[in-house]
Amino acid sequence: MASATKKQAKKGQQQEEGAVFQEDFEPTPFWVAVMTYLGYAVLFLYGRLRDFMRNHNFEQSKTAKEMSKMKSFPPLYRDFEAFYTRNLYRRIRDCWNRPICSTPGSTFTLVERESKDHGWTFQPTGEKKSYINLGSYNYLGFAENKGPCADATIDAIKKYGVTYSSPRAELGTSTIHKELEDCVARFIGKEDAMVFGMGFATNSTNMPVLVGKGCLLISDELNHASLVLGARLTGAKIKVFRHNDMEHLESILRTSIIEGQPRTHRPWRKILIVVEGVYSMEGSLVNLPEVIRLKKKYGAYVYLDEAHSIGALGPTGRGVVEHFGCDVNDIDIMMGTFTKSFGGAGGYIAADKVIIDRIRAHSHSQRRCEALDEVADLLGLKYSQHHKPRAFRDIKQIAAAAADKL
Ligand SMILES: Cc1ncc(COP(=O)(O)O)c(C=O)c1O
Repeated sequence: MASATKKQAKKGQQQEEGAVFQEDFEPTPFWVAVMTYLGYAVLFLYGRLRDFMRNHNFEQSKTAKEMSKMKSFPPLYRDFEAFYTRNLYRRIRDCWNRPICSTPGSTFTLVERESKDHGWTFQPTGEKKSYINLGSYNYLGFAENKGPCADATIDAIKKYGVTYSSPRAELGTSTIHKELEDCVARFIGKEDAMVFGMGFATNSTNMPVLVGKGCLLISDELNHASLVLGARLTGAKIKVFRHNDMEHLESILRTSIIEGQPRTHRPWRKILIVVEGVYSMEGSLVNLPEVIRLKKKYGAYVYLDEAHSIGALGPTGRGVVEHFGCDVNDIDIMMGTFTKSFGGAGGYIAADKVIIDRIRAHSHSQRRCEALDEVADLLGLKYSQHHKPRAFRDIKQIAAAAADKL
């Protein structure tokens, strides 16, 4: 009772400060949760029984097997993954795992298939059907194989080629990389930016440049795998807070600062809070105003992954910072990818010039990875500035078509 009153008082105080953030997720109905877990339990037991029968030749096994001469090699999949794929996923994979034969626009075309052996193999029926697309990252509709984006990309590829076949630090930097980096920095509102060939590697290879031993990294529990891998490669101490739970984040910040580093209790060299703009699997938005307030209160830094928010949120597509009306200078590292809204490939980091200079000098991506094929990204970014109304029109069309068909 006392804690409920305390929570209400805190909410009231936040409302007064204008920092309140409301996000509503429909809770899973109790019986749906019970039946789902029960279903899993039944499938699990049944799967164990079927595996037993397969292993003792009572039933034919149709899964891929290691060749006998490879038996001494480590298995390709961990036991449970293989068990799950064979016995649970196989039964329902046709719900998601469907070949498409068109670009992923507001609608797409699926190849119709049928299975005569309960999902082990599929045969095309020769039919193709068009469906409404509610699941792609092509948020602004630029990933098309005809129209102005495609035409401009073809022209640019004729002029610049498709690859430099070399890392940026060797022979892989061209004038168009510089143009793209300037364009990103201007668009985001930061002093400088650097681009990389892969969004995943932008996180995993650059986080170790920013923090290391003696630092503390505080990460949202639902952060993307590239952030998790990047965090592990830093060598910093990692603490995880409950998804978007700002009270939990604050309590971790407070106790970590009081206790200092493990064993020595020295102050942390740096504290980095790592969050995403829009979480791709949940569709939730980061509580950015509160993250910024906590960062300032506790003297931490913020790393914001805008893979899903850049181009798609904010009146001019500048992402979650613009959406909340925050100041981009309050975010230390602005990371994003070209693979979603911009219909291209690769990722970027935009930050103060000193930080980007450090990344240019020390990033593994700079020395060991092929330079970005930047042409489509530059065009995507430019188009997003000029053709956003068209993109919003497409999104409205999808919504209208969905409403019509449901
Ligand atoms: C939040 C987030 N960060 C980074 C990435 C990696 O981007 P890419 O797929 O371009 O490698 C993804 C990919 O979906 C993502 O969702």
